[in-house]
Amino acid sequence: MKNLIIKAKETHSLTKEEIIALLQDESINEDLLKAADEVREKYIGNAVHLRGLIEFTNICKRNCLYCGLRRDNDNLKRYRLSEEEIIDFATKAVEYGYRSIVLQGGEDDYFTVERLTSIIKKIKALDVALILSIGERSYEEYKALKEAGADRYLIRIETTDTALYEELDPGMSHENRKQCLRNLKEIGYEVGSGSLVGLPGQTVESLADDILFFKEIDADMVGIGPFIPNEDTPLKDASVEGHFTLALKVMAITRLLMPTLNIPATTAMESLNKNGRVMALQSGANVVMPNVTEGEYRKLYALYPGKICISDTPAHCRGCISGKIQGIGRTISTTTGSHKDQMSMH
Ligand code: 5AD
Ligand code: SF4
Ligand code: FES
Repeated sequence: MKNLIIKAKETHSLTKEEIIALLQDESINEDLLKAADEVREKYIGNAVHLRGLIEFTNICKRNCLYCGLRRDNDNLKRYRLSEEEIIDFATKAVEYGYRSIVLQGGEDDYFTVERLTSIIKKIKALDVALILSIGERSYEEYKALKEAGADRYLIRIETTDTALYEELDPGMSHENRKQCLRNLKEIGYEVGSGSLVGLPGQTVESLADDILFFKEIDADMVGIGPFIPNEDTPLKDASVEGHFTLALKVMAITRLLMPTLNIPATTAMESLNKNGRVMALQSGANVVMPNVTEGEYRKLYALYPGKICISDTPAHCRGCISGKIQGIGRTISTTTGSHKDQMSMH
């Protein structure tokens, strides 16, 4: 099995069977995570990109069985930030030194292209990279938002298992999700995707497919997080056992196959393990997305339980995450952390 890790480190390619073998073998975990850390350092260095995350609406028209924001969850107070609040949080994020901003929300049709265009233009005037994460929209909408100034777009495939996807995301089409990713690439966004690890009914075979899918679509960013059962959803009784380690392994193999990729140490990792983001940063990740939303909104963006930082201020999180990054000998990036720039570094 060690030979497989060496092969992946040198050639950045593995077959589906080889990925499955690595995922199933618990005895190589340490070597695998370390190899991913080394590949990260060799190709993109020690800098960690910080992206200020604004969770601007927890209203969602979808009904994903795993997610606390699903429309049938009546147990959640809903909110939408005003344009003024969004710009205020973005302005403060820039003051904290963040060079990129992520606008993330549920699929909320209140935020039309017109409303988003106004917000995007004001954020872009702050001289940052702008990343949108607002789900499925039409080709024309994606194009208009790009023209308004958005630089990048995150939309997770969640799982490449079509049947599982359509069971867990009722009313949604896996084909349309893939089409969204193709459209975004064609329009010229840097595109982020990603997946959940530990979904009920998910197999190691499909996790291997997820990793190969990220490579196939030539993703610029890949966010991988453990699935964490939420009390207010139909999957409340699902298990969480083993999800953390498996998610770290999926992330590490993704790094081995895509050496210059942007990979966040996801918030969900730290929600399951108090050292989760640092462990992720030492297993292939090179991005952290500190929350810059203020007040009770943090708590209300309740995708899953145990979410970190819900009672902290953006300023506190800035100090906290900087300390963790410097504490492991890494540095804070001073660039916007574009994948295209990273590819030319090597
Ligand atoms: N556990 C972990 N991640 C979740 N997400 C939604 N619900 C959960 C959960 N219960 C993730 C999805 C989505 C992102 C915004 O949050 O992958 O794409
Ligand atoms: Fe909405 Fe996204 Fe949650 Fe699905 S995962 S319910 S699309 S916020
Ligand atoms: Fe928010 Fe540590 S990053 S408290």
